[in-house]
Amino acid sequence: FSYPLPANEPVLNYAPGSAEKKRLKEVLAELKSKEVDVPMYIGGKEVRTNKKYKLTAPHEHKHVLGYYHEGEEKHVQQAVDAALAAKEAWANMSWENRANIFLRAADLIATKYRPYMNGTTMLGQSKNAYQAEIDAACEIIDFLKFNVHFLSEIYRQQPISGAGMHNRMEYRPLEGFVLAVTPFNFTAIGGNLPTSAAMCGNVVIWKPAHTQIYSAQMFMKILKEAGLPDGVINLIYVDGPTVGKVCFTHREFAGVHFTGSTGVFNNMWETIGKNMSMYRSYPRIVGETGGKDFVMVHKSADPDVVATALLRGAFEYQGQKCSAASRAYLPSNIAEKVKKKLVAGVNSFKVGTVEDFTNFVNAVIDEKSFDKIKSYIDAAKRSKKASILVGGECNKKEGYFVQPTVIETTDAKYTTMYEEIFGPVLTIYVYPANEYEKTLELVDSTSPYALTGSIIAQDRYAVELATSKLRNSAGNFYINDKPTGAVVGQQPFGGARASGTNDKAGSILNLYRWLSARTIKETF
Ligand code: ALA
Repeated sequence: FSYPLPANEPVLNYAPGSAEKKRLKEVLAELKSKEVDVPMYIGGKEVRTNKKYKLTAPHEHKHVLGYYHEGEEKHVQQAVDAALAAKEAWANMSWENRANIFLRAADLIATKYRPYMNGTTMLGQSKNAYQAEIDAACEIIDFLKFNVHFLSEIYRQQPISGAGMHNRMEYRPLEGFVLAVTPFNFTAIGGNLPTSAAMCGNVVIWKPAHTQIYSAQMFMKILKEAGLPDGVINLIYVDGPTVGKVCFTHREFAGVHFTGSTGVFNNMWETIGKNMSMYRSYPRIVGETGGKDFVMVHKSADPDVVATALLRGAFEYQGQKCSAASRAYLPSNIAEKVKKKLVAGVNSFKVGTVEDFTNFVNAVIDEKSFDKIKSYIDAAKRSKKASILVGGECNKKEGYFVQPTVIETTDAKYTTMYEEIFGPVLTIYVYPANEYEKTLELVDSTSPYALTGSIIAQDRYAVELATSKLRNSAGNFYINDKPTGAVVGQQPFGGARASGTNDKAGSILNLYRWLSARTIKETF
């Protein structure tokens, strides 16, 4: 049975006076009016502990949204036991019945819980309504529906048979359990990482970033309402090293589906490598990590296209997309025009809370992140090689607000041209317009990452040269566009080098990683 290719979920625009805006405002008020008590979900049961931590809104950090119950080592163990207990029945459930649970979850978000997914993402992760809508509503729905389609395509792929024999492929889930570790910056990644593995018949331990718990628990409740059997996905709030200690020393550890920092992912590889003899099989290690995403501009580019790509690419969701534009190479012939537009653009942005729908920029995720971003800005203010073109204000009194900031450097290898900041900071470097090819080499060699990047040019030979020279510099390469905003089913997402294993979220390639096929030949 093949599930047809779905259409992408339409993005609602929350225009003034729209029904969706009215409903979202009601839900935001409802969410803010009570403190939610958030348990872990282990084996389908709500698990509470005596270690409760506050969930707060980054843009209003004194406002308590609720409390989550933090677990410890024994809870990780319980989650693994519950997953393994659920394994056989889940793996043997017919594919059609498994698929319908995820399709139903997508439908529940589209028709009933959309404002709750958006509302928890807006308040918990400080996304404005549009950024929440494209993430917590549309992208999750797309992941669920497209992955069902992709998996049904895999299941249909069968080998040829010959006279006197028949061959078939059985796409089994992995033996054991899968660990999904998800970040704060996209609720949809929390939606995708556990479900793509589970859809294939795997059982999963899901550990979200503590800053994502508010929306993660909402999605977990939706999965339960959609009929996900107990123990298939177990949601735990336990610190990373403790989760690793239990999962990475377990004989049934079958794989990790990760999005987060390069450093954490490197540690996982090392630990898994050291513990290799403990496992039944070679674990699947799938990760999307950091980025230092570039916008390379050719002298033939339209300055308006450049400015829009940079302003949106660098500053939407406060630059906290792994795909965010964070270094730009401007040719000397149009650099001044582009800089003027960047200054005007940044000065036009409204910075503030998510409930005022006119704010383009909200808060960065937490104090640690705020301090880190500010330290890069402060260093640029002191540096002889850099200056602040626009922005640079930071204020954490009410919320963790960082004004979008453009650093200009005269050194193509200045720190902020290669280190990931994960905040609303763009560094620009002006190069002599006739040194395009040489600058392409700089783009490729300056950072260890290779996640996303853009070339902006009207000259098709310039586009061709960049496409070829930057072949390994970005897993997602954009021509005349910003480097953010990949859509499931349209731009499969992921990068190589220090940016991950490039197993393309939202594509058939990702699903293959959660299957372990058996080939069966029968001779007649
Ligand atoms: N998929 C997200 C984007 O492309 C990270 O912006």
